[in-house]
Amino acid sequence: MKSRVLSGVQPSGNLHIGNYLGALANWVKIQYDYESIFCIVDLHAITVYQNPEELRAKVRELAGLFLASGIDPKQSRIVVQSTVPAHAELAWLLTCVTPMGWLERMTQFKAKSAAQESVGAGLFQYPVLMAADILLYQAGIVPVGEDQTQHLELARDIAQRFNSLYGETFVMPATSLPLVGARVMGLDDPTTKMSKSAQGAGHLVALLDPPDRIRKTIMRATTDSNPAVDFETMGPGVANLLAIFQAFAGWSSDQMRAHFTGLRYGDLKKQVGEMVVSKLDPIQQRFREITADHSYVDQVLRDGAEAVAPIANSTVQLVKQRMGVFTW
Ligand code: TRP
Repeated sequence: MKSRVLSGVQPSGNLHIGNYLGALANWVKIQYDYESIFCIVDLHAITVYQNPEELRAKVRELAGLFLASGIDPKQSRIVVQSTVPAHAELAWLLTCVTPMGWLERMTQFKAKSAAQESVGAGLFQYPVLMAADILLYQAGIVPVGEDQTQHLELARDIAQRFNSLYGETFVMPATSLPLVGARVMGLDDPTTKMSKSAQGAGHLVALLDPPDRIRKTIMRATTDSNPAVDFETMGPGVANLLAIFQAFAGWSSDQMRAHFTGLRYGDLKKQVGEMVVSKLDPIQQRFREITADHSYVDQVLRDGAEAVAPIANSTVQLVKQRMGVFTW
């Protein structure tokens, strides 16, 4: 049997080239070797206020981008979290075996709650819901960025605690990240990872940005005080631009050195911009075709939910039985 891979993406912010190169492009590659479930986690998104209309639109947009990027719905499941009620149900059952102290330690909770005037209890529970997403499908492999490793560790702790209280029930999800791709940094600040929720105008290239905007953002990217590319002394901004080019072009390090050494930054940026534009163009075209109306995306999401529901429901049933929660 193929091992099961599960990952989740929030339908908030704009999916960008960092998400594509660091995650999506890998998922596309591995989807034939694993049984893959890609979850659009709208219940996580609402842990902070979302405009209702925008949220619904973002779910479809994200699904459209998954498909346009090459996720094959015959092969992989794209599932909207809220359409499979077992996610929320298991989250509650797991909440009851999760000590408060474990959640209080979560660095993302500390950071996010510090930025809010009033902190919803959902924000605190967020990692339990994520554990439920993972454990619901007994996923063995969970490809996530480093910012999520603490949450993944917590999912393991919760699984272990449940197993020791109620008997072997959950498969331990792997904490290793066997599927890391390029790590793309912010174009305005190459010391921080490119982030969907970052505010600044020059920070990211979104997958749906028009070509001129892509070129402009890259032309404005932070570099360093060298006049031209020098692989020995370059700063993180130049390294980031080169990494973006390399990941899209699929060039070897030798090819990169031979081509870019000594190139002035203006020319470097032009070439990076053209490379990104040329690679995003077919994705954007496919996206427009796929999302011309809702019907195709909605059908994919319905099929996804239908396909995974039996797995999810049988896990919840088993957990209920183990805990003594009443079932017929
Ligand atoms: N918390 C993850 C993030 O913000 C998203 C997520 C939710 C997730 N459920 C998941 C990731 C399950 C992997 C597996 O990136």
